[in-house]
Amino acid sequence: MTDPIHGGFPLTRMRRNRHDSWNRRLVSQVRLGIDDLIWPLFVVEGAQICVPVPSMPGVMRRSVDTLLEAVQQAVDLGIPAIALFPCIDDARKSPDAREAYNPDNLVCRAVRAIKERFSDRIGVVCDVALDPFNSDGHDGIVRDGRIINDETLDVLSRQALVQAQAGCDINAPSDMMDGRVRAIREMLDGNGHHDVRIMSYAAKYASAFYGPFRDAVGSGGALKGDKATYQMDPANTDEALHEVALDLHEGADMVMVKPGLPYLDVIHRVKETFRVPTFAYHVSGEYAMLKAATLNGWLENDKVVLETLLAFKRAGADGILTYCALEAAQLIGQKR
Ligand code: PBG
Repeated sequence: MTDPIHGGFPLTRMRRNRHDSWNRRLVSQVRLGIDDLIWPLFVVEGAQICVPVPSMPGVMRRSVDTLLEAVQQAVDLGIPAIALFPCIDDARKSPDAREAYNPDNLVCRAVRAIKERFSDRIGVVCDVALDPFNSDGHDGIVRDGRIINDETLDVLSRQALVQAQAGCDINAPSDMMDGRVRAIREMLDGNGHHDVRIMSYAAKYASAFYGPFRDAVGSGGALKGDKATYQMDPANTDEALHEVALDLHEGADMVMVKPGLPYLDVIHRVKETFRVPTFAYHVSGEYAMLKAATLNGWLENDKVVLETLLAFKRAGADGILTYCALEAAQLIGQKR
């Protein structure tokens, strides 16, 4: 076979550039850095609590005091941001999810504690969605078995506002209601929070890979039915581009595709089409799969973690939300 560019075999030997480690480093295209990582953390009420989430080996639910120790680790390693997810006592859940916009709710207290201690040494991302606070386990207000879009927008924007007032840097609406980005942007701007950013979960699929997360925040038991009327059908990609276009138009600063590995094609298309800061969420179920295999000795943990995260970068993601963030940062640090 003759290759018009390289002259073909044996003139071209692809293995030459793979011969030495220095050469491989020199020609390597995509790099995973600590700056690419966002670490999701689960927070619970109480003091001195750090309990494992059974379906996510290595992941903890932490009270605010022990959460600060985890954030300290992230700061020390240079991880740019963490994302907070609350696990709320059932007594505080209600059909109107009013705890979501209580300025003294668990998330707001956690944000204030983190910002008081670390200021702008680390970014704080807060999820905007009602599922942790909703007795129905859904991301929006439920009436007669339906998720009511426009009424939910009002609650979501109030939720985003209390998070911003507490000091959160990035609101991340994960609810998939129509029009939420605009509603949140208007609420933030109307209250002087022009600099709070919005990272929208723009293409969020109705996925079975969120199961362990729902265990972790305790929303799975309550959930009636599924989320298919608001999250996307895994069969669709054009729709993901439509969602991203709308969210950007409504004022999103960054967009996200979720889940991650099973949707690398979507990440790639979003990045190629819009050229905006694009994030991937390596979700709980993907993490659980990886850990199940590595803890059984079937896969090599450190290599699989780094290869997985590199794949997101190769697909075009600018950053990755991953429960592996801390161990990945440690591994990247050691490599240097
Ligand atoms: C809630 C939310 C979910 C995740 C992030 N925010 C779950 C869901 O939509 O049911 C999933 C994250 C993960 O699985 O790691 N709106």
